[in-house]
Amino acid sequence: MSEKPWSGAFTQPTDEFVEAFTASIDFDKRLALQDIAGSRAHARMLGRQGILSEADVEAILDGLEAVREEIEAGEFPYSVALEDIHMNIEARLTERIGDAGKRLHTGRSRNDQVATDFRLYVRDEIDAILAKLARFRAALVDTAEREADTVMPGFTHLQAAQPVTLGHHLLAYQEMAERDAGRLRDARRRVNLLPLGSGALAGTTFPIDREWVAQELGFDGVTENSLDSVSDRDFAVETASACSLVMAHLSRLAEELVMWASPQFGFATLPQSFCTGSSIMPQKINPDVPELVRGKTGRVNGDLMSLLTLLKGQPLAYNKDMQEDKEPLFDALDTVRGSLKVMADMVPGIAFHRDALRKAASAGFATATDLADYLVRKGLPFREAHEVVGKAVRHCIDHGLELPDMDLATLQGFSGVIGEDVYEVLTLEGSVSARDHIGGTAPDQVRAAVERARRRMEGE
Ligand code: ARG
Repeated sequence: MSEKPWSGAFTQPTDEFVEAFTASIDFDKRLALQDIAGSRAHARMLGRQGILSEADVEAILDGLEAVREEIEAGEFPYSVALEDIHMNIEARLTERIGDAGKRLHTGRSRNDQVATDFRLYVRDEIDAILAKLARFRAALVDTAEREADTVMPGFTHLQAAQPVTLGHHLLAYQEMAERDAGRLRDARRRVNLLPLGSGALAGTTFPIDREWVAQELGFDGVTENSLDSVSDRDFAVETASACSLVMAHLSRLAEELVMWASPQFGFATLPQSFCTGSSIMPQKINPDVPELVRGKTGRVNGDLMSLLTLLKGQPLAYNKDMQEDKEPLFDALDTVRGSLKVMADMVPGIAFHRDALRKAASAGFATATDLADYLVRKGLPFREAHEVVGKAVRHCIDHGLELPDMDLATLQGFSGVIGEDVYEVLTLEGSVSARDHIGGTAPDQVRAAVERARRRMEGE
């Protein structure tokens, strides 16, 4: 046999640089175990259908097992000349078992083979990321429960807006992560369909049984159209897109943690095991982990763009362009896995400084809306109440006061309907506990939301 499994029609050897340029073995060796699983199922199906003899099937299965052991032991002789993982494994199999190895590719093409391997790989990765997401979500929920009563400033435009509870703030991220999990599960439904049997593009002349292979490999069904099957990478785009959103959410949390850990905010201290120092400034304890997570978001977005751009403009069906699908998605999956792990590990160890959070919530007139709502309850139309409170705030700014610092007479100067009971609504606890409905920031609502989130996670 000549070195290349496809060289029959060639009269010139491959250019040396082209050999390396066109090879994918350096990165698609990751698909080795999926390739062997796919080949096992394919070989057994060929045997069941009477396309291969039982003896050949037996030899192929034993040979593939030996190759698998070689790979797991780190002893497989990967060859760039053999281009990709598919031809590497097939050639090694044939080296070991002879002619039976050459029959394995009956009724199959690398085009449906690679699509199958890639889908198997992505399916497993989605499951692994879902497990990591679940850990991250549990960390958020547990911390939210612990901090259900902790009052902090809620921001819009990064300006103090209204007091919220830290538990409520953290649960916002659990909601994002829950949607991320839903998107990944949804993508998985379209990932988990078997393209094998589509051949190079048109199907195969052999009496194959695709349903059987699908079942063997744990697919939910088979893909419908052979042309589409070998050229569809929507599943990769969808998965990368879900990864991008995971990173967007992690990055927003990371950004807040970086700010909160700065002495200027002083809201939180990150565990030192997740920080690093400076080579010149001895005082520095830097929040590198959230910064890196924020930074890595860019590369995952880039991965998504690579995949989208890869697909655009490719005529049906398979084109070699497709080989470029792997590195971006591998990178996105690796990055998301690592980022989720490190954030899930870090969150439970963050020390939140309740006094500083409280102090910050007390500044910046965060209970101004509560005062306006109070006036509405006393009969003022909301727009008038807004105006009255605006004037009161202006008075405070001019005199260096916060709203509760004004005495009753001063407050009554802004509106005669104000009574002694106004001070209750100006407290932080009064403000948060008054928002006592589903979705609101009241501590009791946070505790109820924690319970609901836990129950939903158990049901997933
Ligand atoms: N290494 C290729 C890929 O990753 C496998 C399929 C190649 N098929 C072909 N006819 N060149 O897409």
